Amino acid sequence: MHSNRVVLITGATGGLGRVVTKRFLAEGAVVAAVYRSEDKLKELIEYVGEGKVNGFKADVTDPASVSTLIAEVTKKLGRVDVLLNIVGGYAGGTPLQESEEVMLDEMVTLNTRSAWLCSRAVLPGMIERNWGRIVSVSAKNATPSGRRAGNIAYAISKGGIITLTEALAEELSKVEVNVNCVMPATIDTSKNREKMPKADTSKWVKPEDIAEVILFLSSDSSKAVTGATIPVFGRS
Ligand SMILES: NC(=O)c1ccc[n+]([C@@H]2O[C@H](COP(=O)([O-])OP(=O)(O)OC[C@H]3O[C@@H](n4cnc5c(N)ncnc54)[C@H](OP(=O)(O)O)[C@@H]3O)[C@@H](O)[C@H]2O)c1
Repeated sequence: MHSNRVVLITGATGGLGRVVTKRFLAEGAVVAAVYRSEDKLKELIEYVGEGKVNGFKADVTDPASVSTLIAEVTKKLGRVDVLLNIVGGYAGGTPLQESEEVMLDEMVTLNTRSAWLCSRAVLPGMIERNWGRIVSVSAKNATPSGRRAGNIAYAISKGGIITLTEALAEELSKVEVNVNCVMPATIDTSKNREKMPKADTSKWVKPEDIAEVILFLSSDSSKAVTGATIPVFGRS
């Protein structure tokens, strides 16, 4: 299904990204894995196997770095067929009246701007070839049923992913470049298990299950789906 498709994965060294990377490799995709630290790249290579991923170092919140990233991927692998915007992070725990503006700036930069920049950079090639898939990662916190006190900045930044998805799909309505996002609740990652040792992990969504949804949204089979936000809540 994904044989020889070039798939650019941001956040490939993270809890969700590493599982998605492994799944796409198993499908025969050519994976460009974005990383920041050499140690994290090493861990990813240990997890997926030697000689399988093409690592590209970049800061996806920085336009110059994103532009260099896409130029390097295109030079080495020829093109980007699928972009997976998995980079993201969480900050919260303070009500708005006690929050510093830096928290909002950081959340929007990391969670929204990164996906905006990477999407912008891959679009010219996808439009020219009349084929592309962009899948981003929102969060349940962005929706009424997932709202929690103390994380307004995070919710805004992940709500921005839904808006980006819907608006970009509308802009691309005349080409087969489909733009969708998944919206996880708490993911069963080792980081979350460490942070919340008493939580009922049976309710958490497994990264492997999210990877299957992303795989579908990145394939020819999702031709009819664009502008969608798919809840991947597990049992929570
Ligand atoms: N975990 C959850 O429960 C949960 C729930 C809902 C939604 N989500 C969303 O799901 C996605 C994956 O979450 P996760 O738990 O797998 O996160 P994670 O383990 O913290 O991984 C985040 C990844 O982003 C990379 N990254 C961060 N800043 C970057 C930058 N400026 N440039 C390039 N790469 C950067 C990290 O690289 P380094 O390893 O070098 O830091 C890491 O690979 C995120 O968008 C997150 O917001 C997560």
